[in-house]
Amino acid sequence: MSSIFKKLLAHWKLVLGLAISLFVFSVSVGISGAYVLAYTSTEEFCVSCHEMSYNFAEYKGTIHDTNRTGVRAICTDCHVPHTPGPLVWAKIKASRDLFYTYISPSIDTKEKFEAKRAVMAQRVWKEMKSSDSHECRSCHRADKMSVDLQSAKAQARHAKAKVDGKTCIDCHFGIAHHEPDGPGPSELFGNTAKPAP
Ligand code: HEC
Ligand code: HEC
Ligand code: HEC
Ligand code: HEC
Repeated sequence: MSSIFKKLLAHWKLVLGLAISLFVFSVSVGISGAYVLAYTSTEEFCVSCHEMSYNFAEYKGTIHDTNRTGVRAICTDCHVPHTPGPLVWAKIKASRDLFYTYISPSIDTKEKFEAKRAVMAQRVWKEMKSSDSHECRSCHRADKMSVDLQSAKAQARHAKAKVDGKTCIDCHFGIAHHEPDGPGPSELFGNTAKPAP
């Protein structure tokens, strides 16, 4: 028997105590982490800051807020990745928003918000282009769309989109908020999406 093991055996109460504390500690970190994650994924949380920054008001009444079936897309559905790695990274990056809220407010007046809108919109587009509109596709599966039920215009455009390697955000931008001034996603970033299989 190794001497380390003998020592551990001699102090078994301490070892057991430490093991139990470690277990309780990790469970509580896990639980509070889950609460933080759940709370920061609610509409209320996002709106608590973005109420005064107009994005909420613009989103209200759009097809993703209210529609025939009542199935909605809330802020986090479109803006927060659904896979664990990118999700945690997005939460870390969001701490920048704390700085721009409490230390150096960047969108607290209508004027400041409008001045920064295009910059922010372009950041969102860039992410959506590079993820091939991952967030949109978590609800809208191109392979599950009943093409015959779509308008003739939609059918034609979607068929062309596959050939041209365009992604959802290339055509469907400004759908939840007002469109910013200046160039759109395709003009800015080109057709970088891989043609859909
Ligand atoms: C503590 C206040 C606060 C909360 C809570 C908050 N935001 Fe923000 N958000 C900001 C500020 C401030 C900015 C502007 C950052 C800047 O000036 O670069 C911003 C910018 C953004 C942008 C622009 C994208 C970008 O990269 O600039 C998006 C999208 C966004 N927030 C979505 C959300 C969503 C979704 C939630 C809920 C999960 C959320 N925000 C919660 C304060 C907040
Ligand atoms: C949480 C799920 C969800 C997400 C995420 C989502 N959508 Fe939707 N989308 C819906 C629902 C539900 C409808 C309404 C369907 C209906 O009632 O016809 C809809 C409707 C639409 C429509 C039809 C608009 C119209 O006027 O008929 C377009 C276009 C669309 N979404 C594009 C997008 C794009 C682009 C994204 C990503 C930026 C996205 N959606 C993200 C659920 C989602
Ligand atoms: C090349 C541009 C283009 C691309 C890329 C594109 N769409 Fe569309 N989409 C359109 C047009 C145009 C319409 C028809 C709009 C209309 O009738 O006013 C449409 C309509 C729709 C509709 C409503 C269908 C209906 O009949 O009511 C949905 C939902 C939709 N698109 C989702 C998506 C999603 C999700 C993606 C990405 C997988 C996507 N689109 C990619 C151009 C595009
Ligand atoms: C259907 C998907 C969708 C939903 C739901 C959504 N957004 Fe957005 N958001 C976008 C897209 C796409 C952009 C990029 C600019 C554009 O195309 O309008 C954007 C841009 C933004 C920006 C940058 C400034 C601007 O106006 O472009 C902020 C801030 C933002 N969203 C916050 C929110 C908040 C807060 C909510 C919930 C109240 C929300 N978004 C709901 C898709 C969405």
